Amino acid sequence: MTLSFTPGPTAVPPAVREAMADPQPNPILEDEFTERYEILCDQLAAVYETSHDVVVPGGEGILGLEAAIASLVSPGDRVLCLSNGIYGDGFADFVDSYGGEAELVSAPSDEGFDLEGVESALETAADDDDPFALATMVHCETPTGTLNDLEPVLDSLEDHDVLSVVDAVSSLGGTPVPTDRIDVCLGASQKCFSAPPGLTTAAISDRAWDAMEERDPASLYTNLLPWKDVSDGFPYTHLNANVAGLETAVDLVLEEGLESVFERHEAAAERCRERGAELGLEVYPDPERQSPTVTAFHRPGEAAEIQQRVAEEEAVLLATGLGELEDDILRVGHMGYNAEVEKVDRAMDALEAVLS
Ligand SMILES: Cc1ncc(COP(=O)(O)O)c(C=O)c1O
Repeated sequence: MTLSFTPGPTAVPPAVREAMADPQPNPILEDEFTERYEILCDQLAAVYETSHDVVVPGGEGILGLEAAIASLVSPGDRVLCLSNGIYGDGFADFVDSYGGEAELVSAPSDEGFDLEGVESALETAADDDDPFALATMVHCETPTGTLNDLEPVLDSLEDHDVLSVVDAVSSLGGTPVPTDRIDVCLGASQKCFSAPPGLTTAAISDRAWDAMEERDPASLYTNLLPWKDVSDGFPYTHLNANVAGLETAVDLVLEEGLESVFERHEAAAERCRERGAELGLEVYPDPERQSPTVTAFHRPGEAAEIQQRVAEEEAVLLATGLGELEDDILRVGHMGYNAEVEKVDRAMDALEAVLS
Protein backbone atom coordinates (compact mmCIF):
# COMPACT_ATOMS: atom_id res chain seq x y z
CA MET A 1 0.00 0.00 0.00
CA THR A 2 1.39 3.40 -1.03
CA LEU A 3 1.86 5.89 1.83
CA SER A 4 0.35 9.24 0.91
CA PHE A 5 2.19 12.49 1.71
CA THR A 6 0.28 14.70 -0.69
CA PRO A 7 -1.07 18.11 0.37
CA GLY A 8 -4.61 16.75 0.21
CA PRO A 9 -6.48 14.59 0.14
CA THR A 10 -4.46 13.57 3.19
CA ALA A 11 -4.16 10.13 4.80
CA VAL A 12 -7.29 9.42 6.87
CA PRO A 13 -6.82 8.08 10.44
CA PRO A 14 -8.57 4.82 11.42
CA ALA A 15 -10.97 6.54 13.87
CA VAL A 16 -12.33 8.72 11.06
CA ARG A 17 -12.70 5.75 8.69
CA GLU A 18 -14.49 3.77 11.39
CA ALA A 19 -16.89 6.63 12.16
CA MET A 20 -17.82 6.79 8.47
CA ALA A 21 -18.53 3.07 8.37
CA ASP A 22 -21.04 3.28 11.25
CA PRO A 23 -24.78 3.35 10.48
CA GLN A 24 -25.78 7.02 10.01
CA PRO A 25 -28.97 8.92 10.85
CA ASN A 26 -31.12 9.87 7.86
CA PRO A 27 -30.22 13.50 7.00
CA ILE A 28 -33.72 14.28 5.67
CA LEU A 29 -35.96 12.54 8.18
CA GLU A 30 -34.16 12.33 11.50
CA ASP A 31 -33.61 15.28 13.84
CA GLU A 32 -30.62 13.46 15.29
CA PHE A 33 -28.70 14.23 12.10
CA THR A 34 -29.46 17.98 12.29
CA GLU A 35 -28.54 18.07 15.97
CA ARG A 36 -25.21 16.37 15.27
CA TYR A 37 -24.58 18.67 12.29
CA GLU A 38 -25.19 21.73 14.48
CA ILE A 39 -22.79 20.49 17.15
CA LEU A 40 -20.20 19.90 14.41
CA CYS A 41 -20.62 23.51 13.24
CA ASP A 42 -20.07 24.80 16.79
CA GLN A 43 -16.98 22.64 17.21
CA LEU A 44 -15.64 23.85 13.89
CA ALA A 45 -16.11 27.43 15.12
CA ALA A 46 -13.67 26.49 17.91
CA VAL A 47 -11.13 25.29 15.32
CA TYR A 48 -11.68 28.46 13.30
CA GLU A 49 -11.34 30.37 16.62
CA THR A 50 -14.28 32.48 15.56
CA SER A 51 -17.56 33.86 16.83
CA HIS A 52 -18.92 33.80 13.25
CA ASP A 53 -21.44 31.19 12.10
CA VAL A 54 -19.90 28.08 10.58
CA VAL A 55 -21.71 26.01 7.94
CA VAL A 56 -20.69 22.75 6.30
CA PRO A 57 -22.19 22.22 2.83
CA GLY A 58 -21.75 18.91 1.05
CA GLY A 59 -19.22 19.20 -1.78
CA GLU A 60 -15.43 19.40 -1.60
CA GLY A 61 -13.23 22.50 -1.38
CA ILE A 62 -13.92 24.07 -4.76
CA LEU A 63 -17.64 24.16 -4.00
CA GLY A 64 -16.91 26.61 -1.17
CA LEU A 65 -14.88 28.91 -3.42
CA GLU A 66 -17.54 28.97 -6.13
CA ALA A 67 -20.39 29.22 -3.60
CA ALA A 68 -18.83 32.27 -1.92
CA ILE A 69 -18.70 34.05 -5.27
CA ALA A 70 -22.15 32.83 -6.40
CA SER A 71 -23.63 34.00 -3.10
CA LEU A 72 -22.01 37.43 -2.97
CA VAL A 73 -21.42 38.62 -6.54
CA SER A 74 -24.16 40.12 -8.71
CA PRO A 75 -23.64 40.84 -12.42
CA GLY A 76 -21.59 44.03 -12.75
CA ASP A 77 -20.16 43.89 -9.21
CA ARG A 78 -16.51 44.80 -8.97
CA VAL A 79 -14.33 42.31 -7.10
CA LEU A 80 -10.72 42.82 -6.08
CA CYS A 81 -8.91 39.50 -6.56
CA LEU A 82 -5.46 39.25 -4.94
CA SER A 83 -3.32 36.53 -6.34
CA ASN A 84 0.12 34.98 -6.20
CA GLY A 85 -0.92 31.57 -7.45
CA ILE A 86 -3.38 29.28 -9.15
CA TYR A 87 -6.15 29.36 -6.54
CA GLY A 88 -5.94 33.15 -6.29
CA ASP A 89 -6.35 33.38 -10.08
CA GLY A 90 -9.21 30.87 -9.90
CA PHE A 91 -11.29 33.25 -7.78
CA ALA A 92 -11.13 35.81 -10.61
CA ASP A 93 -12.40 33.16 -13.05
CA PHE A 94 -15.37 32.42 -10.79
CA VAL A 95 -16.12 36.16 -10.51
CA ASP A 96 -16.14 36.46 -14.32
CA SER A 97 -18.34 33.41 -14.73
CA TYR A 98 -20.95 34.88 -12.36
CA GLY A 99 -21.03 38.16 -14.31
CA GLY A 100 -18.84 40.17 -11.94
CA GLU A 101 -15.89 42.31 -12.95
CA ALA A 102 -12.70 40.93 -11.45
CA GLU A 103 -9.78 43.32 -10.94
CA LEU A 104 -6.81 41.01 -10.52
CA VAL A 105 -3.88 42.32 -8.47
CA SER A 106 -1.21 39.74 -9.18
CA ALA A 107 2.19 39.07 -7.71
CA PRO A 108 4.71 36.46 -8.86
CA SER A 109 4.17 33.03 -7.28
CA ASP A 110 7.40 33.31 -5.25
CA GLU A 111 6.45 36.68 -3.74
CA GLY A 112 3.83 37.89 -1.25
CA PHE A 113 0.72 39.86 -2.20
CA ASP A 114 1.22 43.16 -4.02
CA LEU A 115 0.16 45.40 -1.12
CA GLU A 116 0.86 48.63 -3.01
CA GLY A 117 -1.29 47.39 -5.89
CA VAL A 118 -4.09 46.56 -3.45
CA GLU A 119 -3.93 49.96 -1.75
CA SER A 120 -3.86 51.77 -5.09
CA ALA A 121 -6.86 49.78 -6.42
CA LEU A 122 -8.80 50.58 -3.24
CA GLU A 123 -7.89 54.29 -3.38
CA THR A 124 -8.88 54.55 -7.04
CA ALA A 125 -12.19 52.81 -6.33
CA ALA A 126 -12.85 55.32 -3.52
CA ASP A 127 -11.87 58.33 -5.69
CA ASP A 128 -14.11 57.12 -8.53
CA ASP A 129 -16.93 56.25 -6.16
CA ASP A 130 -16.96 52.80 -7.78
CA PRO A 131 -16.41 50.51 -4.78
CA PHE A 132 -15.51 46.85 -4.72
CA ALA A 133 -18.27 44.52 -3.51
CA LEU A 134 -15.65 42.24 -2.04
CA ALA A 135 -12.06 41.07 -2.20
CA THR A 136 -10.77 37.51 -2.55
CA MET A 137 -7.47 35.91 -1.55
CA VAL A 138 -5.84 32.62 -0.62
CA HIS A 139 -4.17 32.01 2.74
CA CYS A 140 -2.02 29.03 1.75
CA GLU A 141 -1.34 28.66 -1.98
CA THR A 142 -0.91 24.89 -1.76
CA PRO A 143 0.69 24.46 -5.22
CA THR A 144 3.72 26.56 -4.17
CA GLY A 145 3.63 25.91 -0.40
CA THR A 146 3.23 29.64 0.20
CA LEU A 147 1.52 30.95 3.32
CA ASN A 148 0.33 34.51 2.70
CA ASP A 149 0.25 37.16 5.40
CA LEU A 150 -3.42 38.19 5.46
CA GLU A 151 -3.26 40.86 8.16
CA PRO A 152 -2.01 43.86 6.12
CA VAL A 153 -4.57 43.18 3.39
CA LEU A 154 -7.37 42.79 5.93
CA ASP A 155 -6.29 46.15 7.46
CA SER A 156 -6.66 47.85 4.06
CA LEU A 157 -9.99 46.16 3.35
CA GLU A 158 -11.34 47.21 6.76
CA ASP A 159 -10.24 50.81 6.11
CA HIS A 160 -12.22 50.75 2.85
CA ASP A 161 -15.16 48.73 4.23
CA VAL A 162 -14.79 45.93 1.67
CA LEU A 163 -15.97 42.36 2.38
CA SER A 164 -13.28 39.67 2.39
CA VAL A 165 -13.42 36.08 1.11
CA VAL A 166 -10.45 33.90 2.06
CA ASP A 167 -9.56 30.42 0.86
CA ALA A 168 -8.05 28.81 3.97
CA VAL A 169 -8.55 25.32 2.55
CA SER A 170 -5.00 24.14 3.19
CA SER A 171 -4.20 26.21 6.29
CA LEU A 172 -7.30 25.83 8.49
CA GLY A 173 -6.61 23.37 11.29
CA GLY A 174 -2.86 23.48 10.65
CA THR A 175 -1.96 27.07 11.48
CA PRO A 176 -3.85 30.06 12.93
CA VAL A 177 -6.28 31.84 10.59
CA PRO A 178 -7.61 35.31 11.58
CA THR A 179 -11.20 34.23 10.89
CA ASP A 180 -12.91 36.91 12.98
CA ARG A 181 -11.50 39.51 10.58
CA ILE A 182 -12.72 37.61 7.49
CA ASP A 183 -16.27 37.70 6.10
CA VAL A 184 -16.26 34.30 4.40
CA CYS A 185 -13.44 31.96 5.42
CA LEU A 186 -13.35 28.67 3.54
CA GLY A 187 -11.97 25.27 4.53
CA ALA A 188 -12.34 21.68 3.38
CA SER A 189 -12.52 18.28 5.03
CA GLN A 190 -9.63 16.65 3.17
CA LYS A 191 -6.71 18.88 4.15
CA CYS A 192 -5.63 19.48 7.77
CA PHE A 193 -8.70 17.69 9.17
CA SER A 194 -7.60 14.46 7.47
CA ALA A 195 -11.14 13.41 6.64
CA PRO A 196 -11.93 12.34 3.07
CA PRO A 197 -12.93 14.91 0.43
CA GLY A 198 -16.64 15.70 0.42
CA LEU A 199 -17.29 18.69 2.67
CA THR A 200 -16.65 22.40 2.47
CA THR A 201 -16.54 24.50 5.64
CA ALA A 202 -17.35 28.22 5.69
CA ALA A 203 -17.22 30.71 8.57
CA ILE A 204 -19.55 33.57 7.66
CA SER A 205 -19.82 37.02 9.28
CA ASP A 206 -23.15 38.75 9.93
CA ARG A 207 -22.41 41.38 7.31
CA ALA A 208 -21.70 38.66 4.73
CA TRP A 209 -25.06 37.01 5.55
CA ASP A 210 -26.70 40.46 5.19
CA ALA A 211 -25.04 40.96 1.80
CA MET A 212 -26.29 37.56 0.63
CA GLU A 213 -29.82 38.25 1.88
CA GLU A 214 -29.83 41.57 0.05
CA ARG A 215 -29.01 39.99 -3.28
CA ASP A 216 -30.93 36.71 -2.81
CA PRO A 217 -28.72 34.42 -4.94
CA ALA A 218 -30.52 32.49 -7.66
CA SER A 219 -28.44 29.31 -7.58
CA LEU A 220 -29.22 26.30 -5.39
CA TYR A 221 -26.11 24.13 -5.13
CA THR A 222 -23.75 27.11 -4.95
CA ASN A 223 -25.93 29.24 -2.68
CA LEU A 224 -24.67 29.52 0.91
CA LEU A 225 -27.79 31.29 2.19
CA PRO A 226 -29.97 28.17 2.74
CA TRP A 227 -27.26 26.92 5.11
CA LYS A 228 -27.81 29.86 7.48
CA ASP A 229 -30.69 28.10 9.20
CA VAL A 230 -31.16 24.40 8.56
CA SER A 231 -33.77 23.78 11.26
CA ASP A 232 -36.36 23.17 8.50
CA GLY A 233 -34.04 20.99 6.45
CA PHE A 234 -30.96 21.03 4.27
CA PRO A 235 -31.07 22.37 0.70
CA TYR A 236 -30.13 18.90 -0.59
CA THR A 237 -29.45 15.48 0.91
CA HIS A 238 -26.51 15.90 3.21
CA LEU A 239 -23.51 13.55 3.08
CA ASN A 240 -24.15 11.80 6.38
CA ALA A 241 -21.09 9.52 6.34
CA ASN A 242 -18.79 12.44 5.50
CA VAL A 243 -20.35 14.50 8.30
CA ALA A 244 -19.70 11.62 10.73
CA GLY A 245 -16.08 11.43 9.55
CA LEU A 246 -15.51 15.16 9.95
CA GLU A 247 -17.19 15.04 13.38
CA THR A 248 -14.54 12.56 14.55
CA ALA A 249 -11.73 14.42 12.80
CA VAL A 250 -12.69 17.68 14.54
CA ASP A 251 -13.00 15.85 17.88
CA LEU A 252 -9.43 14.64 17.45
CA VAL A 253 -8.20 18.19 16.80
CA LEU A 254 -10.04 19.62 19.81
CA GLU A 255 -8.99 16.77 22.11
CA GLU A 256 -5.35 17.39 21.23
CA GLY A 257 -5.79 21.16 21.55
CA LEU A 258 -5.21 23.73 18.83
CA GLU A 259 -1.90 24.94 20.20
CA SER A 260 -0.43 21.45 20.15
CA VAL A 261 -1.84 20.81 16.66
CA PHE A 262 -0.22 23.99 15.32
CA GLU A 263 3.10 23.14 17.03
CA ARG A 264 2.97 19.65 15.52
CA HIS A 265 2.57 21.16 12.04
CA GLU A 266 5.47 23.58 12.64
CA ALA A 267 7.71 20.76 13.86
CA ALA A 268 6.83 18.54 10.87
CA ALA A 269 7.48 21.39 8.43
CA GLU A 270 10.78 22.23 10.08
CA ARG A 271 11.92 18.61 9.85
CA CYS A 272 10.88 18.46 6.21
CA ARG A 273 12.91 21.57 5.35
CA GLU A 274 15.92 20.30 7.34
CA ARG A 275 15.88 16.94 5.62
CA GLY A 276 15.44 18.72 2.28
CA ALA A 277 18.44 20.96 3.00
CA GLU A 278 20.54 17.86 3.76
CA LEU A 279 19.62 16.61 0.28
CA GLY A 280 20.51 19.96 -1.27
CA LEU A 281 16.87 20.79 -1.97
CA GLU A 282 15.81 24.43 -2.09
CA VAL A 283 12.39 25.44 -0.77
CA TYR A 284 10.38 27.43 -3.36
CA PRO A 285 9.03 30.35 -1.27
CA ASP A 286 11.22 32.52 0.96
CA PRO A 287 11.52 31.41 4.61
CA GLU A 288 8.99 34.00 5.84
CA ARG A 289 6.31 32.57 3.51
CA GLN A 290 6.85 28.81 3.93
CA SER A 291 3.67 27.04 4.98
CA PRO A 292 3.68 24.70 7.99
CA THR A 293 1.24 22.41 6.13
CA VAL A 294 3.08 21.71 2.86
CA THR A 295 6.67 22.05 1.70
CA ALA A 296 7.38 22.83 -1.95
CA PHE A 297 10.91 21.97 -3.11
CA HIS A 298 12.19 23.65 -6.26
CA ARG A 299 13.46 21.06 -8.78
CA PRO A 300 13.04 22.72 -12.19
CA GLY A 301 12.34 20.20 -14.95
CA GLU A 302 12.72 17.19 -12.65
CA ALA A 303 9.77 17.12 -10.27
CA ALA A 304 7.51 14.80 -12.26
CA GLU A 305 10.19 12.16 -12.74
CA ILE A 306 11.24 12.25 -9.08
CA GLN A 307 7.63 12.04 -7.94
CA GLN A 308 7.04 9.03 -10.18
CA ARG A 309 10.17 7.23 -9.02
CA VAL A 310 9.41 7.82 -5.33
CA ALA A 311 5.95 6.34 -5.90
CA GLU A 312 7.17 3.33 -7.90
CA GLU A 313 10.36 2.52 -6.02
CA GLU A 314 9.45 3.54 -2.47
CA ALA A 315 5.64 3.31 -2.43
CA VAL A 316 5.41 6.90 -1.14
CA LEU A 317 3.12 9.34 -2.89
CA LEU A 318 4.37 12.93 -3.08
CA ALA A 319 2.91 15.65 -5.32
CA THR A 320 4.31 17.74 -8.14
CA GLY A 321 3.49 21.42 -8.69
CA LEU A 322 0.48 22.56 -10.68
CA GLY A 323 0.06 24.52 -13.92
CA GLU A 324 3.23 26.11 -15.29
CA LEU A 325 5.23 24.87 -12.30
CA GLU A 326 4.04 21.28 -12.56
CA ASP A 327 7.47 19.88 -13.39
CA ASP A 328 9.40 22.40 -11.29
CA ILE A 329 8.00 21.79 -7.82
CA LEU A 330 7.97 18.66 -5.70
CA ARG A 331 5.62 18.83 -2.74
CA VAL A 332 5.52 16.99 0.57
CA GLY A 333 2.25 17.39 2.43
CA HIS A 334 2.52 17.36 6.22
CA MET A 335 -1.07 18.11 7.09
CA GLY A 336 -3.29 16.77 9.84
CA TYR A 337 -2.63 13.08 10.44
CA ASN A 338 0.66 13.32 8.51
CA ALA A 339 1.97 16.30 10.48
CA GLU A 340 4.39 14.26 12.56
CA VAL A 341 8.17 14.32 12.53
CA GLU A 342 8.42 10.50 12.26
CA LYS A 343 6.07 10.41 9.30
CA VAL A 344 7.93 13.23 7.57
CA ASP A 345 11.12 11.22 8.11
CA ARG A 346 9.46 8.27 6.38
CA ALA A 347 8.59 10.45 3.37
CA MET A 348 12.02 12.06 3.27
CA ASP A 349 13.78 8.69 3.60
CA ALA A 350 11.94 7.65 0.44
CA LEU A 351 12.94 10.85 -1.34
CA GLU A 352 16.54 10.44 -0.18
CA ALA A 353 16.65 6.85 -1.48
CA VAL A 354 15.62 8.03 -4.93
CA LEU A 355 17.80 11.14 -5.06
CA SER A 356 20.90 9.30 -3.94
C1 LIG B 1 -5.73 26.38 -1.70
C2 LIG B 1 -6.75 25.43 -2.21
N1 LIG B 1 -7.99 25.86 -2.44
C3 LIG B 1 -8.95 25.06 -2.90
C4 LIG B 1 -8.70 23.74 -3.18
C5 LIG B 1 -9.75 22.94 -3.78
O1 LIG B 1 -10.12 21.90 -3.06
P1 LIG B 1 -10.59 20.53 -3.73
O2 LIG B 1 -9.38 19.65 -3.76
O3 LIG B 1 -11.57 20.09 -2.75
O4 LIG B 1 -11.11 20.74 -5.05
C6 LIG B 1 -7.43 23.22 -2.94
C7 LIG B 1 -7.10 21.82 -3.22
O5 LIG B 1 -5.97 21.42 -3.36
C8 LIG B 1 -6.43 24.09 -2.46
O6 LIG B 1 -5.19 23.65 -2.24
